[in-house]
Amino acid sequence: MNTPSLLGILCYPDPRLHTVARPVAAVDERLRGLIDRMFATMYDANGIGLAATQVNVHERLVVIDVSEERNQPMVLINPEIEWASPEKRKGEEGCLSVPGIYDGVERSVAVRVRALDRDGQSRLIEAEGMLAVCIQHEMDHLMGKVFVEYLSPLKQGRIKSKLVKAQREALRS
Ligand code: NI
Repeated sequence: MNTPSLLGILCYPDPRLHTVARPVAAVDERLRGLIDRMFATMYDANGIGLAATQVNVHERLVVIDVSEERNQPMVLINPEIEWASPEKRKGEEGCLSVPGIYDGVERSVAVRVRALDRDGQSRLIEAEGMLAVCIQHEMDHLMGKVFVEYLSPLKQGRIKSKLVKAQREALRS
């Protein structure tokens, strides 16, 4: 089997990260090819989740692996939250599209999500802990929302200028 080629990850404050994704129309070979490339890209970047939005594909597709061993890939196609616990907790989050930035975001501690898997089968996923946080974070991406938007405008401004500066320096070197 060929190694899937890596995809470029959009970096905040790229305006394309605010695109609202449309539903996936068909779970076919094209989509499975994209899923394989997204997993390769996520593992290469040491991430635990990647939304299609982050690789500039605006379809409702997310890949996740929160396992320590990096051997529990999970695909969510057209995910919908059926239930989110009223109990919330604040935890530190990061994002492959916001490199080097970590900050606290409040999320439901448990969620129940309906999604298609890579075979197009409908699955009900009951998640808590890190997986629940990751699912909520990735589903936000599909709505065009990046986690820093939960932070204060002051912090958002600082993060924006820091990343713009870093990207400018990376271009120069
Ligand atoms: Ni993210």
